[in-house]
Amino acid sequence: MLRLNVANRLDEAAALHWHGLHLPAAMDGGPHQPIAPGAIWSPEFRLMQKAGTFWFHAHQHGQTGRHVWAGMAGVIRVEDEEEAALPLPRTYGEDDFTLILQDRRFDADLQIPYAPDMHDRMSGLIGDRMLVNGQIGAHLPVDAPRIRLRIVNGANGSVYRLHFAGGEAFHQIASDGGLLPAPVSLTEALMAPGERAEYLVDLTAGAPLLLKAEVFGAESPFAGSVGIREVIELRPRTAHTSAPELPARLVDLPPPAPQTGKTRTFALAMTGMGLMGDFTINGARYDHDRVDFTVPLGATETWVIENRTEMLHPMHIHDVQFRILSRNGRPPQPREAGLKDVVLSHPGERLELRLSFADYADPASTYMMHCHILEHEDAGMMQQFAVI
Ligand code: C2O
Ligand code: CU
Ligand code: CU
Repeated sequence: MLRLNVANRLDEAAALHWHGLHLPAAMDGGPHQPIAPGAIWSPEFRLMQKAGTFWFHAHQHGQTGRHVWAGMAGVIRVEDEEEAALPLPRTYGEDDFTLILQDRRFDADLQIPYAPDMHDRMSGLIGDRMLVNGQIGAHLPVDAPRIRLRIVNGANGSVYRLHFAGGEAFHQIASDGGLLPAPVSLTEALMAPGERAEYLVDLTAGAPLLLKAEVFGAESPFAGSVGIREVIELRPRTAHTSAPELPARLVDLPPPAPQTGKTRTFALAMTGMGLMGDFTINGARYDHDRVDFTVPLGATETWVIENRTEMLHPMHIHDVQFRILSRNGRPPQPREAGLKDVVLSHPGERLELRLSFADYADPASTYMMHCHILEHEDAGMMQQFAVI
């Protein structure tokens, strides 16, 4: 059993959610588990994840965006024997680095007030400064020939298109819930708020590599990108002639489980006109006192997400690691074919997901499914469900 003690030393209620972990709903740290000022919340659960990069962040009802913006987020690194047996970099701080990417907007006093205007509430709040683990203008001296970067998109509203300034290739080895079956070679990777990925980067060329992010808000399908920001410069300081060989295979990933339960459709929509609407799921905004649906324990379901808006919505589901079956009828790219808990949904797109609900049922506690653009979530683009 893992026992965590979360002490709320703020003078307002706050909640802390274990994003990506499979656990009992009462331990999930969602909006139904607020911690009173001065109180300590001590959830206990068995850690059932495969090795991977998970995170935790604030989830107070209606205040998630403000609390995360102010800094309430961190990373959980899960290790296991399967991963430990693979020839991968895993020495923390030497060849294995965790990077939380966020952007922030600073005022004249260098404070980061949470002050989204109408436009920010629609597009997601996006800062003008890129932060890596809270630092601006980060660089990383490296001695190893190949490093592993565990990247968390911890932004409120930004989708990042990660790439190196010189177009250098890198490999993705893990998605939200753990390792992929094999390394996937990429020259760019899109990461939406809430998503994690692990990458291998070869530094044997000896030259610095500058990681950049093109930043997209929810409205980017019609507004375009916000710009390109420098993320971090990797600076090799030891010469190597070659990097160790990349493993050709990582883990065995079974195909998505066969469906035994329902197919549910979630229609994402915007009601109202222009930039003044409400974001809804199946016609409704989140109601803290309404359980939207229940799922029978043991069921394997198919969830269809239909994006009927003009915007991007990274959809996140608590409790499970799901599999993407298709995007508009086409199978997912290899980098998205593994374990996922966030999936970026594009305008007009139809996504099919396969999810299995195992181990935990509790009619009295709910899990959330919501858009991970935190301004959308706080505006009610969220549903809650119980596993019974
Ligand atoms: Cu990462 Cu409901 O949250
Ligand atoms: Cu979550
Ligand atoms: Cu959204």
